[in-house]
Parts: sequence; C-alpha cells; structure tokens
Amino acid sequence: MTPEQFVAGLPKAELHMHVEGSIEPDLFLRLARRNGVAIRWSTEEELRAAYRFSDLQDFLDLYYDGCRVLVRAQDFHDVTRAYMRRAHADSVLHCELFFGPQGHTSRGVPIAAVMDGVLGAMEEARAQDGITGGLIAVAQRHRSEEEALAMLDELAPWHERLLGFGLGGAEVGNPPAKFARFFERCRTLGFKVVAHAGEEGPAAYVRESVELLQVQRVDHGNACVDDAALVSELARRRMPLTMCPLSNLKLQVIDSVAEHPLKRLLDAGLCVTVNSDDPSYFGGYVNDNYLACQQAFGLSRQDLAQLARNSFEAAFIPQEQRLAAFAQVDDWLARAVGPELEAKE
Ligand code: HPA
Ligand code: ZN
Repeated sequence: MTPEQFVAGLPKAELHMHVEGSIEPDLFLRLARRNGVAIRWSTEEELRAAYRFSDLQDFLDLYYDGCRVLVRAQDFHDVTRAYMRRAHADSVLHCELFFGPQGHTSRGVPIAAVMDGVLGAMEEARAQDGITGGLIAVAQRHRSEEEALAMLDELAPWHERLLGFGLGGAEVGNPPAKFARFFERCRTLGFKVVAHAGEEGPAAYVRESVELLQVQRVDHGNACVDDAALVSELARRRMPLTMCPLSNLKLQVIDSVAEHPLKRLLDAGLCVTVNSDDPSYFGGYVNDNYLACQQAFGLSRQDLAQLARNSFEAAFIPQEQRLAAFAQVDDWLARAVGPELEAKE
C-alpha cells in the first residue's frame, strides 16, 4: 500500500476548515452568475492565478471579498455540501466547520440564510454519507468585542445547533485579550471555545488563548515552538493544535513544509492534528496536507495513524463515537502494516 493509498483510506476528523474557504473556482463562478454579483475574474484559470498570497492579510482581503458570492440559503447549502462530499471521499468521518457570520450579516445577508443553508447541508451529508459535522462560529478579530458579543446574541435561536465559538482573521495587533469578555460569555453559556493563535502572531498569543481565553483547542499554534516552557505546558495538558501546513506555506508563514513545527511538536507529545484551513484557496484538502507532511518528514504509517487518532481525541464528539473512531484507525493500520510485518517474520 502506497502512502497515498494509506492516507486515502485512513479514517480521520477535520477540525479546522472554513466554509467560506472551500468554494472551488467552478462553484464560485456559478454562484457569482446565479446571484448577479460582479467579480474580477471570468474563468477558473484566472481565479486560480489570483490565489497567490504574500501574507495572511493579503489572503483575507480576497477571502472576505469572495464571500460576496454567497447570498441565499441555497448558496451556503451548496458550498457546505460540496465540501462534505469531498471530505467523505477523503475518509473524513467527522468534521467541525468554521463559518464567519459577521462577513455575511455585515453585507446584509440574513443570519437565517447562513444557518439554514449550512445546517441543511450538514444534515443531508449525514443522511446520505454518514459523515457527522459540527459548527463553530468565528468572530473576526479586527472587529470589536462588542460586535462579537452582538454576533453571539444574534445566533441565540441556533445556540442548540452550534458546537462553539472561535476567533479568526487578522492576528497581529489583535491579541486574544481583546476578546476576554466574549470568550467568558461563550464559556458561561456552555460552548466549546477555540482561537486562531500563533499563525502570524507570537507565542504570547498562544499562551494568552490557553490561559486567559481558556480555549479547548488552538488553531494553528505554530509560534508556540518559540517558548519551550509553553510547549511543555501544552504537552502536559494534551492541548490540541489544529495545524494547517499547506495554508502556512501559501501564506508564507513557512518557506517549505519541512520547516513546519508539526513533527517537532508531535515528538514533544502535543496533540497535533492536520487540517486544510481554506482548501480551495490553498490548493489542498486534508489528505493533501497529510501527504505533504508524510513526504516532508518521512512520516511512518504509525505517525500518520497517530495524527488521525489525535484528530478524534481533539474532536468535540461523544466518547462512544471517539472510541469507535479510534478502533477504525487501528483496524486500518493493522490492515496496512499486517502483511509487511508477516513478511518480515
Ligand atoms: N487565519 C485567520 N483567519 C482565517 C484563516 C486563517 O488561516 N482562514 C480563514 N480565516
Ligand atoms: Zn483558519
């Protein structure tokens, strides 16, 4: 079995994927036409050529602008369903999706259109493919904490359908502490909380997310490697990091995947997971990210299976579902390495 075949069939969870970052160029053009939204590109090739970024802000400018093609519930349904179909084909058993309500409501899109579309697609995917999903609303960190609190209130009719809340967008200059009250309120209401930190920002933002915001997972978290005491603390807590190597490469956080801290942190005992972030913009779905790591670090099948196990350990799922998923990972590993081991004996 080749690494490609092993990764393709490896049961996994994806925990860091933005719905708005999964609009493939063909769907993007169809949605723009369907909604009469003027865009700068007319072909898929032109769009793909535009997906070159110098840093996070450069990407965010295009990403927020691209959200304009999402107008009606059907649009949110189509993009979510397309991602989940693709994830199912990548042996993703469970996914936790980020979406950014503020990027839509600020354009006059009713929050009900967003929620009906995304939730409807998640139900359909579960019924048709058996893939489970959860939803995490992300506050944009360049906006104020008051706006984040207003978003939380606006989502009140759907609180039962949400897993939790997160923090995304322009990191540098917008420290986690800016959202301390928002996170406290989310936690008090019983939500899971996560935050993007240490993607472009410093290790101190990772520490602040964990200690002040009391997040249950850190999204990216790369910069923690600059603080040895923090790395030890994250390992002690088994604090999950939802890492996205191809995203980091595209946004020039790293110059090559071999430079990515993922393997160092895995070896240090952290609960590292592999994810795609914004797959249509960054040119790779979750399996492409696993394979990029396999190649850059020469990961063994045991390493790859550990990353998959970590994804279920870090997922916000019932323990019963977690144990069943661990067993599926172990079965796949046994099937893949069994004949090799026998041959060696
Ligand atoms: N970082 C911050 N915000 C984001 C990202 C990211 O990688 N993707 C979508 N929103
Ligand atoms: Zn992200």
